[in-house]
Amino acid sequence: MANSRAKRNVATATHVAMIMDGNGRWAVARGRPRLFGHKRGVETVREIVKSCPDLGISHLTLYAFSTENWKRSKSEVAGLMLLLRRYILKEIAALVERGVRLRFIGRRDRLDASLARLMSSAEQQTAGNDKLNLTIAIDYGGRDELRRAAAAAAADLAAGRVDEITESLIESHLDTAGLPDPDLVIRTSGECRTSNFLLWQAAYSEYDFVDVNWPDFSPELFAQALDGFMTRERRFGAVAK
Ligand code: IPE
Ligand code: IPE
Ligand code: MG
Repeated sequence: MANSRAKRNVATATHVAMIMDGNGRWAVARGRPRLFGHKRGVETVREIVKSCPDLGISHLTLYAFSTENWKRSKSEVAGLMLLLRRYILKEIAALVERGVRLRFIGRRDRLDASLARLMSSAEQQTAGNDKLNLTIAIDYGGRDELRRAAAAAAADLAAGRVDEITESLIESHLDTAGLPDPDLVIRTSGECRTSNFLLWQAAYSEYDFVDVNWPDFSPELFAQALDGFMTRERRFGAVAK
């Protein structure tokens, strides 16, 4: 027993990434439109962000809209974009006050220009903060991010700025450059897949698939997931000690 405890992961997770899934099913189960679930999902985001300092989390990355989510109905996409805009406008003062640094990862070229400007402005306003690094993935796909990073690395090589393409060169061109890799990725709604999230960065992350829809996720369930993380043994390809 003492032996197996010693094998466990004593470090706490400091970077947690979340695939916020299940808003639509949560709403439909209540006879409400999908957008109602997204609205409640924003409330969960607020609570989870607030809970991070107490839980010892320095980096939180949230998957809000994937490169594939454009396939949804026009009205759902427009509703999600409006919720994002409102979240930034409503939360920015509180984020500044609480020392949160806000970043966005993903493509910006397919977003409404005024939303893209709002995102950049929020990033600039919070750039000096370091209590919590909150990263929101919008029009984000791991494959698209890697495609863009590969193109940038190839351009470096062609221009003679580098002699070879290394892992660190690719990393320097990812949207997450400068951020640590996630220790733990949590996906709500019971689905067990990555859906194109942080494909490079999560190579050695622990995964936790939680069986509640995102609107029902809570700081208590987050704390439970973190407790579970501490029982995992991370080997990073080496042999257990
Ligand atoms: C939220 O959950 C994730 C987003 C893409 C915004 P969903 O909208 O995917 O809800 P489900 O999975 O259909 O229930
Ligand atoms: C993943 O959820 C994307 C986000 C949470 C933003 P999806 O609901 O889009 O993923 P699939 O379609 O179930 O794989
Ligand atoms: Mg979903």
